[in-house]
Amino acid sequence: MRLGVIGTGHVGLVTCVCFSSFGHDVVGTDSDVEKIRGLAQGRPPFFEPGLEEMLATELASGRLSFSAEPADAIREAEAVFVCVGTPARSSGEASLAATEHAARQFARYAPPHSVFVEKSTVPAGSALRIRRTIVRERPDLEGELEIASNPEFLREGNAISDSLHPDRILVGAEAAWVFDLMRRVYKPLLDKGHRLIETDLISAELAKHMCNTYLALRVSLLNAFAEISERAGGDIAAVTEVMGSDPRIGPHFLRPGIGYGGSCFPKDLRAFDRLAKSLGYDFPILQEIARLNDEAAASAVRKVKDAVWNLEGKRIALLGLAFKPDTDDTRFSPALEVARRLVAEGADVVAYDPRATLDGAGDAPPMKRVSSVYEALQGSSCAVICTEWDEFRNLDLDRVKLAMAEPLIVDGRNVLEPSEMRAAGFVYYPTGRPPVLG
Ligand code: UGA
Repeated sequence: MRLGVIGTGHVGLVTCVCFSSFGHDVVGTDSDVEKIRGLAQGRPPFFEPGLEEMLATELASGRLSFSAEPADAIREAEAVFVCVGTPARSSGEASLAATEHAARQFARYAPPHSVFVEKSTVPAGSALRIRRTIVRERPDLEGELEIASNPEFLREGNAISDSLHPDRILVGAEAAWVFDLMRRVYKPLLDKGHRLIETDLISAELAKHMCNTYLALRVSLLNAFAEISERAGGDIAAVTEVMGSDPRIGPHFLRPGIGYGGSCFPKDLRAFDRLAKSLGYDFPILQEIARLNDEAAASAVRKVKDAVWNLEGKRIALLGLAFKPDTDDTRFSPALEVARRLVAEGADVVAYDPRATLDGAGDAPPMKRVSSVYEALQGSSCAVICTEWDEFRNLDLDRVKLAMAEPLIVDGRNVLEPSEMRAAGFVYYPTGRPPVLG
């Protein structure tokens, strides 16, 4: 099949390489000409495990190409997957300007019997507006250009594996031929037994927002449970083992920490809140999830203060900037929120992350970046672990102790073992677990 992809960010680029690996001919396009130039030369603009290698393979196969001209991606495509950004406006509402622009481009160049596939996360009702836009642009092709909603469930850091082994493929559409076409797109996965769920357009759009809202709720609930465990003197690790053994709860997504971040949960939660409001439904739990998320970062900073007393002029090592491991993404990273709060208290923050870039992260707090974990720890009064990189699990504790001014560690992601920290002579504050006070 010939397929187009508009927008080569995390979702779009992974979609390009995976569809090409299915044997389809894929043309990716993006308004960022530099990005397209880099991609055509095999350079992904962000880190994702396995992506660079797969990009090289698919480019070499001749099936995958990139063009800065949207017409090249649309003109002969049976389906065009739209993966453009839907950032939050200051009101929290998702900005769909790029989606509308893509709809107009699609209408302009699409051949009859082509499908505009909405892959970006958009509020319920967007497909209907896209349809209206397309029909207005091309009344001559009414009924021949269709819309599908095919939300993406991949996680950054696991994107390739999630796309090649999805736990579900969701397709919302109206016309039977659109479902048939989408089954042809995903045939290699369906042949392997992966499940494709067919719904109407609105339910598909809602499902994506509701999944992310539920997952964010789970993280915030766990962080609140961790806070209660800490205050009551319990151990959240024991509690989550019990909770996760109940099949109705399940063991995944029960890790307490300094909060969720990234380009999806914070934005989607706000957009879903706006949608609920626009539907006249009062849904205060959505704001509570976000409040508890801020509180998780604040809790880590309280522990740092508790450990070192006054923060003015103290050097604090911040270990991890990415919103989670195996990504270089720091957008809405809670690590930056921890840094911001430490800096506001007068601390000198020295940050280390093995991969993170500050691209798209907005205003980062003033802090020094260093290129090794031991450099960050050198002379620091306390270290706070913000991202659960494997590198931090395998620290040489004797070397850490020698480097630091005081052996104080706040573990915002529970990557270290309390018994080992006690044996190594550290004062150690995990999350939701009893501290090691020396
Ligand atoms: C999330 C969803 O998991 C994907 O299904 C969805 O496709 C994606 O958003 C999206 O909407 O595009 P992602 O943001 O890449 O994916 O990352 P997650 O692995 O879901 O983690 C989100 C945040 O929650 C991270 O900051 C992570 O550290 C935090 N988290 C996750 C916890 O604090 N505790 C947990 O137990 C799990």
